[in-house]
Amino acid sequence: MAEERTTALIVAAGTGERLGGDVPKQYRAVGGKPVLRWAVEAMARHPLVDQVRVVIGSEQHELARTALEGLDVGDLIEGGAERADSVLRGLAAVGDGRVLVHDAARPFCPPDVIDRLLGALGGHDGAVPVLPVSDTIAKGDRILDAPVDRARLLRVQTPQAFHVEDLLYAYEEAGRRPATDESTVMLAAGLQVAAVAGDPMLEKLTTAADWERAEAIL
Ligand code: CTP
Ligand code: MG
Repeated sequence: MAEERTTALIVAAGTGERLGGDVPKQYRAVGGKPVLRWAVEAMARHPLVDQVRVVIGSEQHELARTALEGLDVGDLIEGGAERADSVLRGLAAVGDGRVLVHDAARPFCPPDVIDRLLGALGGHDGAVPVLPVSDTIAKGDRILDAPVDRARLLRVQTPQAFHVEDLLYAYEEAGRRPATDESTVMLAAGLQVAAVAGDPMLEKLTTAADWERAEAIL
């Protein structure tokens, strides 16, 4: 049987409110290259990834064209107001097969994470990279309430692997409102998502401190 086509779908339509600045974070440079460009290159380089597609904001065509110059990402896809809207618009453009939904704000994806994800997708509805929680976790506001047992807590990263039809079904079934990632939507629809080992290199760039950390690592 022929292998299914695998698309890396990179969502880059956010405005990067938490970091601030003139230009959304995915178009800013880290290690001399735009964050989005790193993310696309990391996916494109993997032998099991057949195509990379990118979802951008409607005001971001110029920024994206510059950041992606010379890379093959097909037509740029326009996203929407919420991350889930951007993912859904991307899925509509991708067609069927396997999809790796990935945040542009996570520039450095090690290839073995993709190997683990696609391996696990063979036996589950989806697969996501996770890391353990190392800090003490507690509930509370200004005063600590109950501590939380961190032993069973996981930090969920992207890329996240699914079959396009399953993810579309899950979005239809579960609605898109509360979703910060696709694993949440899959679980809400009663589907099973495998957890594979994530990687510290996949940390999302959100704040100025994340930027400094990334520059230091590079
Ligand atoms: N994203 C998107 N469409 C949106 C919102 C977010 O494609 N409407 C993308 C971002 O570009 C990013 C990824 O989803 O690559 C993860 O989102 P996040 O890190 O929260 O980025 P922003 O939403 O841009 O940042 P902030 O929440 O600080 O505004
Ligand atoms: Mg956001």
